Amino acid sequence: MKKTLTIILLSILAGMTAHADEGMWLPSLISQRIGDMQEKGFKLSAEDIYSVNQASLKDAVVLFGRGCTGELISPEGLLLTNHHCGYGQIQKHSSVEHDYLKDGFWAMSREEELPNPGLSVSFLERMEDVTDLILKGYEPGMSEDERVSIVKNNSKALIDEVTKEGKGLRATVEALYYGNQYFLFLYRQYDDVRLVGAPPSSIGKFGGDTDNWMWPRHTGDFSMFRIYADKDNNPAEYSKDNVPYRPKKYFKISLEGVQEGDFTFIYGFPGRTQEYIHSEGVRYIEQVGDPHKIRLRTLRLDVMSKYQSQSQKVRIQYSSKHANVANAWKKWQGEMKGIRKMKTVQNKQEFEKTFSMWAANGEFDGVVEKIAQIYHDLEPYQFATDYYSETARTVELAGIAYKVAGLLEKENGKELAKEALDAFYKDYYLPIDKECFIAVMNEYDKNVPAEFKPEYYKECLDSYGSIEAWAKDLFASSLFADPAKAAEADLEAVTSDPAYRFYHEYAKWYNEDILPVTRQLNQDLQLAYRDYMRGQMVYCRTQRVPKAFYPDANLTLRVAYGHIKGYSPADGTYYLPSSTMKGIMEKDNPEIFDYNIPQRYREIYAAKDFGEWTDATGEVPVCFIATNHTTGGNSGSPVINADGNLIGINFDRVWEGTMSDIVFDPEICRNISLDIRYVMFIIDKLAGAGHLLDEMTFVGR
Ligand code: ARG
Ligand code: GLU
Repeated sequence: MKKTLTIILLSILAGMTAHADEGMWLPSLISQRIGDMQEKGFKLSAEDIYSVNQASLKDAVVLFGRGCTGELISPEGLLLTNHHCGYGQIQKHSSVEHDYLKDGFWAMSREEELPNPGLSVSFLERMEDVTDLILKGYEPGMSEDERVSIVKNNSKALIDEVTKEGKGLRATVEALYYGNQYFLFLYRQYDDVRLVGAPPSSIGKFGGDTDNWMWPRHTGDFSMFRIYADKDNNPAEYSKDNVPYRPKKYFKISLEGVQEGDFTFIYGFPGRTQEYIHSEGVRYIEQVGDPHKIRLRTLRLDVMSKYQSQSQKVRIQYSSKHANVANAWKKWQGEMKGIRKMKTVQNKQEFEKTFSMWAANGEFDGVVEKIAQIYHDLEPYQFATDYYSETARTVELAGIAYKVAGLLEKENGKELAKEALDAFYKDYYLPIDKECFIAVMNEYDKNVPAEFKPEYYKECLDSYGSIEAWAKDLFASSLFADPAKAAEADLEAVTSDPAYRFYHEYAKWYNEDILPVTRQLNQDLQLAYRDYMRGQMVYCRTQRVPKAFYPDANLTLRVAYGHIKGYSPADGTYYLPSSTMKGIMEKDNPEIFDYNIPQRYREIYAAKDFGEWTDATGEVPVCFIATNHTTGGNSGSPVINADGNLIGINFDRVWEGTMSDIVFDPEICRNISLDIRYVMFIIDKLAGAGHLLDEMTFVGR
């Protein structure tokens, strides 16, 4: 049964014709796509992309930290990723005396490179289909619980075995196609990764939230690190004696530039997509989840913005929080709009109707209906969960109270709590928190049905009479409203505090009343999707529907390829595919925080001191867009040209195309990359760190 499954999958995957630029492909199976890639302009072979026998491009790509990608660009372990991926590290090294976020940082010698405890990068050693091994012992007819435990035990045994020989080895077994296939991913993890450089935020975050998810774009979103290893090039904990890691492969930097139509390929770790989702799942996202979540976040963002515009101090305190809330908020708006425009719900419904007729009396009979039923059962719980996470869970005072309670239970709790509290109050402004509480809880009151609200909520509202009165009392009587009192509080005082109680009662309600149901329903859903996924493949093959299948993203290494291309976001408008420094000068405005560039930068531009980093028109290129299929996690991914050389760093998508996590539209979906020549320009001219260029290899220089 498992054999046939693998054979079916393989024959389906191999026999599919290409579709315009959609897809996130598994590197080890890239030979199935290489013909299409070469037809579109790629000049290298499948073995050049992924090989276990020789150095290949995969050896120059790393999973950076917990959710970004990075690439090696020198024989001495130099690595590029995004500024927003290295942000946490840059921030940690910053202080009032040297504010690297504001001013940038460049190590002028190896000794000046800064260690980052807790940061690691992982190279993929190899990946392989282990479906038969992982399902060993599973028989059709067994329960899902039994299957889950078999998969878990077999995975553990396999992981233990493959990681036993060799330093820094780490492995995961990942389900693809909803568990129709299992793949082993074996990584080598390096833990000594040092900060080499970052531009000032006015360059690395140029355009800020205003330009986020937007094109035309001018963000210099990069930072630079170096991997260190022991004398034998093996992973090692941080030590002064460690030496720069010598990679099996690193990217050459191409100065040949990009033209509309050029082949591009992205090699990285996309996080999560749902391309095979049922119409009911899409309907919830488009018509329920996204609109409600957007509305709740609009309320919070408005409150933050109001106070931020009144005080310079508050603006800084809430800039990172505002950015975090705004990021998904903006993405969801594009996603919702894109799904609507693509008529994805209707199209899926039509497909499901045909599928269902085809499936009647066969192996996949009823699966479409079953999924619809599970979504129906799940919906109120999902709705309650979404509201919980966008309302009660966002109350800052409640969050810190809960955190402090947890810390005070530890041995050196007092000390840990003090640290946490100091960090919290540094960026806390109570009027924002309180007004957000009032705004979102009123919305919650209106929209969430009574049976999906905790008793605690009803009691509080009854006794206070209004959300406003409740907020007034909570924010006045909580000891966390007063940093001095919070610092003194013991565990008992904390756990009887109203802010703590708020967090605790909500968490208790969620864990007892909601989570068990959603967990069960999601397991049922997973099971039904496993059949539906296989059904979609068999259907398309037997009915000769030309559709190429690729597994949904799951933070494993993937190849996406396409070409440089502008797009038309609206009638009468066409966006060119690249931007230049000229556009930065046009946006430059000392009055607007997001567009205020360093004075030195203005001088460089006035003097036209561009060095060799210009395009054919004599301007310095900054960003470009292309049709590669990417998602969150692809941040920092290398953008590679037809010759396999580095032309850019991926960092975003256009917001009109963010539905590509669900449905890809080649007309609109574009990834946004930083032009590698801009990176070099900043290092060379603004940072004056030209010595770093000496270790890189340039093509077309
Ligand atoms: N939109 C990009 C991503 O999804 C960049 C986010 C960081 N930048 C920002 N202005 N918030 O992660
Ligand atoms: N900025 C995103 C990231 O951090 C990439 C944008 C996207 O979602 O494609 O991964």
